Amino acid sequence: MNILVLNGPNLNLLGKREPEIYGSRTLQAIMAELTDYANSQDAMLFHFQSNAEHELIERIQSLLVNGSDNNAPIDGIIINPAAFTHTSVALRDALLAVNVPFIEVHLSNVHKRESFRHHSYFSDIAQGVIVGLGEQGYRFAVDALITKFQQTN
Ligand code: DQA
Repeated sequence: MNILVLNGPNLNLLGKREPEIYGSRTLQAIMAELTDYANSQDAMLFHFQSNAEHELIERIQSLLVNGSDNNAPIDGIIINPAAFTHTSVALRDALLAVNVPFIEVHLSNVHKRESFRHHSYFSDIAQGVIVGLGEQGYRFAVDALITKFQQTN
């Protein structure tokens, strides 16, 4: 099984950025550990972070063009769209276009925060949504995608 993890704007600043909300670990450390975890579960993990909406869209579209990473099809996506969660119809449309099951993850509990964070352009088309559990949320998403994959393959 191959999983693509997408992280949106400012998540490259994890560790420095509002640590009381987002924790003190870097994105690099979190993704390295997640990759090891996925590998231990016989899944491959590919990670892409960008601050640019068009780059995230192009990465998603590349699944149609190439159909793959390392010639292996992507079976599931984990996405933390960060601030684009609340703004991006274009990213939503890209995910609908490739039709790969995805899980939406947020480190913080967006529902405890400002009201503009309460609406997501992704939740109604996601397989599931994980909020407020910090970096553990990514691991739960890996587990959920693997379980789903095993049930259907
Ligand atoms: C976030 C929540 C968003 O509202 C915010 O813009 C982020 C991070 C989270 O992981 O909690 O950048 O997606």
